[in-house]
Amino acid sequence: MATIAVTGATGSIGRRLIPALLERGDRVVALVRSPPREGLPAEVEQRAWEATYKTADLAGVDAVVHLAGAPVANRRWTEARKRYIELSRLLGTRSVVSGIREFPGVRVLVSASGIDYHGDTGDVPISEQSPAGRGFLPDLAVRWEQEAEKARELGARVVLVRTGMVLARGEGVLARMEPIFRAGFGARLGTGAQWVPWIHWQDEVGLILHALDHPQLDGPMIATSPNPVTNREFTRALARAMGRRTFPAPVPAPVLRLVLGEMATAVLSSHRATPRVALETGYRFRFPELEPALADLYGA
Ligand SMILES: NC(=O)c1ccc[n+]([C@@H]2O[C@H](COP(=O)([O-])OP(=O)(O)OC[C@H]3O[C@@H](n4cnc5c(N)ncnc54)[C@H](OP(=O)(O)O)[C@@H]3O)[C@@H](O)[C@H]2O)c1
Repeated sequence: MATIAVTGATGSIGRRLIPALLERGDRVVALVRSPPREGLPAEVEQRAWEATYKTADLAGVDAVVHLAGAPVANRRWTEARKRYIELSRLLGTRSVVSGIREFPGVRVLVSASGIDYHGDTGDVPISEQSPAGRGFLPDLAVRWEQEAEKARELGARVVLVRTGMVLARGEGVLARMEPIFRAGFGARLGTGAQWVPWIHWQDEVGLILHALDHPQLDGPMIATSPNPVTNREFTRALARAMGRRTFPAPVPAPVLRLVLGEMATAVLSSHRATPRVALETGYRFRFPELEPALADLYGA
């Protein structure tokens, strides 16, 4: 049994990770804003934490899963919003690393990052060894990871989880897509040729547990299924899983740019990702293929 602190415990991934930690006998400390927060299991200890706290309270903690960060895709990227997204991650990670310095019992930091680290890579397959890209999200991921890496100098093992698009019914990106698809307007975005680095939430949780448990894991780990699909394929599969047809015309890229502004890059970028580190360290995906993953979520 280990004591695991989780930031972002109330979020989409955190809420799913915590029961898995408890189920295997770990003790969980949730670092949350304004405790007590509803919706967390009673056996979870809640401690007050904000990204702006100089030092996270990690007393008695063996490992940290650091997921907190202001949502990236729920509002237009004004300069102020971008700064907020950035600060919530950079300051938050600094606070966690400062906690690791203060409380030397912490041996492992599993820190969230994004597949956007690699930028828009078209049809070129990418793995953890691929270089960083350019743009708001890649630059953010690079700086976010650099902050987390500082825990290594303090003797902790650091795993940087470069997550793709997490599929959870009614959550995140799917929450935005579901009403549109339900109404029969699900359409490919732009050319639809961009690769979608999807992952079922159970594998996202599985990979975080894998990162906690495998001492040989140190450094970046891509968290996407081994079988990315194009946006065109994803659109068809999601419509089918929801028992609907796709809309015959695509949403043109210029329209997306007009509606979403710079945030359109997030849906038009292509990431043909391979979770090489996860596979090489023996992780077995529960949902390696998209159709069964969507069938699981939509009950087909
Ligand atoms: N889900 C994905 O598809 C995906 C893909 C790539 C990367 N990631 C990364 O993985 C992490 C977790 O994702 P998620 O989907 O679970 O995110 P989420 O549902 O948006 O949850 C974010 C969590 O961060 C907390 N938070 C937000 N701003 C904060 C701040 N300023 N200070 C302290 N806590 C703050 C929220 O707490 P409150 O409840 O108090 O708001 C919430 O618990 C995020 O960093 C995200 O960027 C996710």
